[in-house]
Amino acid sequence: MGEMKRIGVITSGGDCGGLNAVIKGAAQMALRNGIEIVIIPNGYAGLYNLIQFKELVTLTPQRVDFIDSNLAGSEAGHSRVKIKKIKDEQKYQRIKQGLEKFQIDGLVISGGDDTGSVMVDLASHGIACVQAPKTMDLDLQPYSVGGDSTINRISQFVVDLKTTGKTHNRIIVVEVFGRYAGHTAFRGGLGADADCILIPEVPVDMDIVYEHMKKVYMGRIEKSDVKSGTYTIVVAEGLKDINGKGIYDESAGLDTFGHKKLAGAGKYVCQQVEKRMKQDAELRQFMETTGMFVQDLYEIPEIRDVRPGHLVRCGQTSAFDVSFGREAGAAAVILLKQGLSGVTVVDVKGHQVRYMKTQDAIVPRYVDLSVVEFYESLGVCFGRSSKQDFKAECVEITEIVDRHY
Ligand code: F6P
Repeated sequence: MGEMKRIGVITSGGDCGGLNAVIKGAAQMALRNGIEIVIIPNGYAGLYNLIQFKELVTLTPQRVDFIDSNLAGSEAGHSRVKIKKIKDEQKYQRIKQGLEKFQIDGLVISGGDDTGSVMVDLASHGIACVQAPKTMDLDLQPYSVGGDSTINRISQFVVDLKTTGKTHNRIIVVEVFGRYAGHTAFRGGLGADADCILIPEVPVDMDIVYEHMKKVYMGRIEKSDVKSGTYTIVVAEGLKDINGKGIYDESAGLDTFGHKKLAGAGKYVCQQVEKRMKQDAELRQFMETTGMFVQDLYEIPEIRDVRPGHLVRCGQTSAFDVSFGREAGAAAVILLKQGLSGVTVVDVKGHQVRYMKTQDAIVPRYVDLSVVEFYESLGVCFGRSSKQDFKAECVEITEIVDRHY
């Protein structure tokens, strides 16, 4: 690979917090090394169509100063386009011509598993590129920018929803993005002190959810001097039923990467809880003794399904993601300058930029079930019968090896 004189920066996949920090970090490191850096707009769609562009935005020191690292979303724009899926047989040739036209020697590409798989493809076609890991889903092997911001937002939404839940004595179900991994629901739910957290890693037994709900919800209201209480369930969109089958509305269709759009898990949980409430004589008696029962109008507690949707990944970036994002962007430039390609930044430790092969970095990572067990021992319901007693082994360590979620 030749010398890096000009680098292009691409952000791709679903947007989230920290992307502008990646762009800023990459630009600052490039400028420091006398490398020009330009924005290739709208993800891989822009890369494919680069040949048609008349000019690109150059990130001069003045332009970089206008990039607000704290804002989520990306100044570079996004698309969900998989190069492999483009029918044009000359697509790689066309991309190379676009890169030659603008004399771009290498690419910093920020994205998740799909973006990474395209990157592996590009690298194998001789295009120099390094991935700055990004996905709010947190399902890559290394930490990915966007996860912390999303988790903080989920926590805040769930905490806020408790005021309305408590006022109406409602059960609140919050369905959150995260695809087939439960990291965002898990950590977002824990951050909000949710009563029940349902993740794809644990096929849900609705009888167990219902029993836990009844005990906690009824206990709360009975103990309250004003007879007020709520019960909060955070549900990952990729939830599976007791038989391990995904619970999604099949009519939602596909995105441009070709993935199922996930929706319906929260609705399913509401329907399952409501069905059980209607058949429960003990619950009816509870409604009567707490003075809530009104014949035909209010015989069972109300339950609401809330889907914050894209709100979990927009707005402000967390302080952690601003710093990690700048680090990842800057580190990607260092790796490119070293002649590396097809690799993903893991982190910066002192004077070391740590990286791994992108094909290894995009292997999906799920919630660790031993951590689930730990929180079960603290009383959180995960929709399965919890092990009776969590046994912990105490181990002294001398080095911190792994810090991510
Ligand atoms: O992969 C990130 C993500 O936010 C998922 O958690 C979610 O399923 C999906 O993107 C939503 O995609 P879109 O922005 O295309 O609606």
